[in-house]
Amino acid sequence: MKQTATGHGGGREVQLAPHELIVTKTDPTGHITYANRVFMRIAGYAEHQLLGKPHNLIRHPDMPRGAYRLMWQTLQAGHEFFALVKNATIDGNYYWVLANVTPDYDLRGKLQGYYSVRRPPSRSAIAAIEPIYAEMRKIEAAHGKAAAPDASRDWLLALLKEKGSSYQDFILALNADVLKAKGVAG
Ligand SMILES: Cc1cc2nc3c(=O)[nH]c(=O)nc-3n(C[C@H](O)[C@H](O)[C@H](O)COP(=O)(O)O)c2cc1C
Repeated sequence: MKQTATGHGGGREVQLAPHELIVTKTDPTGHITYANRVFMRIAGYAEHQLLGKPHNLIRHPDMPRGAYRLMWQTLQAGHEFFALVKNATIDGNYYWVLANVTPDYDLRGKLQGYYSVRRPPSRSAIAAIEPIYAEMRKIEAAHGKAAAPDASRDWLLALLKEKGSSYQDFILALNADVLKAKGVAG
């Protein structure tokens, strides 16, 4: 982990080392049931501060609600989800991750909860997504609280449609370099 001063006023960026993975598990309602040591160190929480807490504990205000709306819709449809996420640490700093979130079913097909495994994203991916998330936040600010997540999600999906891409393919393409280096894809 290293700290850099590249933030835009909202704290300092904490970076994962290339080999580090952050892992958490939740119950079906998004309450944390497991967190690995890397997560505790990077986010700055002790285990007892995490278990049973909603995962929005580490939500960063720069993250658009529409991104989480899309995530939950995808998970609830039974699919995995890839996302570029900015999270807050306990002391007001932040870190970016490339997250892979998957539903976890038991042998009878009953939903047990969700897993998320996160690795450090490509720096160019962060640079590409920041203005997109900023625009989504602007759209959300211009809508009422209830309508905001759908409005920004719809804007994102329309933008990606223009590019002929889904959010998942877009995120994976932006991170192709780090995923290739890890032998994860491509
Ligand atoms: C397995 C799993 C991992 C999640 N990881 C994060 C995360 O790292 N950061 C985050 O802000 N939300 C995460 N969420 C989503 C939160 O549950 C929540 O929907 C999101 O923070 C938006 O907060 P809100 O529902 O209060 O708007 C995760 C959800 C699941 C199921």
